[in-house]
Amino acid sequence: MNACLIAHNNTQSAITDQYRAIRNNIRFSSSSEELSTLVVTSSSEGEGKSTVAVNLAISFAQHGGRVLLVDANIRNPNLNHVFNLKLWPGLTDGLANHIDILETIHQSNIENLSVIPGGSSLPNAADLLDSWAMKTFLELARNRYDIIIFDCSSVLESPETIALARRCSGAIVVVKSEKTQQKKVLEAKRLLELANVNIVGAVLNKKKK
Ligand SMILES: Nc1ncnc2c1ncn2[C@@H]1O[C@H](COP(=O)(O)OP(=O)(O)OP(=O)(O)O)[C@@H](O)[C@H]1O
Ligand SMILES: [Mg+2]
Repeated sequence: MNACLIAHNNTQSAITDQYRAIRNNIRFSSSSEELSTLVVTSSSEGEGKSTVAVNLAISFAQHGGRVLLVDANIRNPNLNHVFNLKLWPGLTDGLANHIDILETIHQSNIENLSVIPGGSSLPNAADLLDSWAMKTFLELARNRYDIIIFDCSSVLESPETIALARRCSGAIVVVKSEKTQQKKVLEAKRLLELANVNIVGAVLNKKKK
């Protein structure tokens, strides 16, 4: 198993506790109905979006919710590596109607947690995230899962993440703890707010020194 699965591999750790706290903050911040679709993003690449998305999804699954974790980072998909899956068929293939999207859902080896990998690299992948097919998929997924978490690209590099976030009930912004990032974080916040995205909160992701 991948090292990024800490909430599963070490349920007693302080980090896992922090994910429980974030999960509960999300649960208590609004009715579960309203926050059923969440986007995890950041201002720049490599700030820990996938790590946070995966562990948050695990935390919701441990609480008993039916969770669907979707790799919507069409620029750099990696959930297939985390969960030992093939990259395709996945989200892009399902949205492009090359395959029934239900067939791209994999039950992970973690109870209650299903995963959709990124899918084939298609030329219109960015538009697919903001398509009618995505709208239909969200309706279908909402009926089957308690929470759907999208692991996305970063806001400043990918307008499609903002478009997807607009369709979801909330966005979580992961911030790597470096002061130099501050300007970028503020710009990402501005862009998300401009698009009327509901920013649920920020997660400070600090690596141990
Ligand atoms: N809190 C942390 N402590 C130690 N390592 C971490 C932490 N968060 C993330 N990492 C590591 O940093 C790297 C980048 O993290 P991750 O893949 O989650 O970032 P990302 O924002 O999803 O990147 P990308 O923009 O490429 O999608 C990974 O190797 C991950 O294991
Ligand atoms: Mg990632």
